[in-house]
Amino acid sequence: MIIPEAQLRQRVSALGREIAASASPQTGLTLVAILAGSIVFLADLVRQLPLPMRIGLMWVSSYRGGATDAGELRAETARLPDLRNRDVLIVDDILDTGGTLRRVQQEVRERQPRSVQTVVLLRKLGKANPPVKVDYVGFDIDDVFVVGYGLDHDGLYRNLPHIALLSEEAKSA
Ligand code: IMP
Ligand code: MG
Repeated sequence: MIIPEAQLRQRVSALGREIAASASPQTGLTLVAILAGSIVFLADLVRQLPLPMRIGLMWVSSYRGGATDAGELRAETARLPDLRNRDVLIVDDILDTGGTLRRVQQEVRERQPRSVQTVVLLRKLGKANPPVKVDYVGFDIDDVFVVGYGLDHDGLYRNLPHIALLSEEAKSA
């Protein structure tokens, strides 16, 4: 196990305090959460944000060609709430190569929000090239494959209450 439940809880409430402190208590935030990996983090985070809030969800899927292919990303934006003149907070589970967040930040900016910030629970340091700007990070981790607390491998393990390293056996199963 690499991040136990209690440590996640502590860090998520600290992130909540940090984010709430920089948000407007009158107009609050519009969250844009990336499905499906962010669902557990999102659910815990929003309960630490005592602000007026709207929550939008966005599916982003990648069609990976070869194993080394960066893949083509498809973002389903049709059901996003209105972002114009809103203070938007993008919520994702993990920043790896940065492809996903780069695309989502671009989709959000095109909708002319008043401001855009990004929070990720986990960040694999030094992997995103070019770097992607994130405003809040739960934990920096090594370049390893992790599951749990929303993160999956082949659709499994999202319901683990902690973040765990995926074993080599599970990876090839
Ligand atoms: P990106 O490479 O930054 O675009 O990361 C894209 C997505 O890959 C993330 O939102 C996750 O859904 C997934 N991902 C990257 N690293 C991991 C991991 O270690 N475990 C589970 N999912 C991951
Ligand atoms: Mg994801």
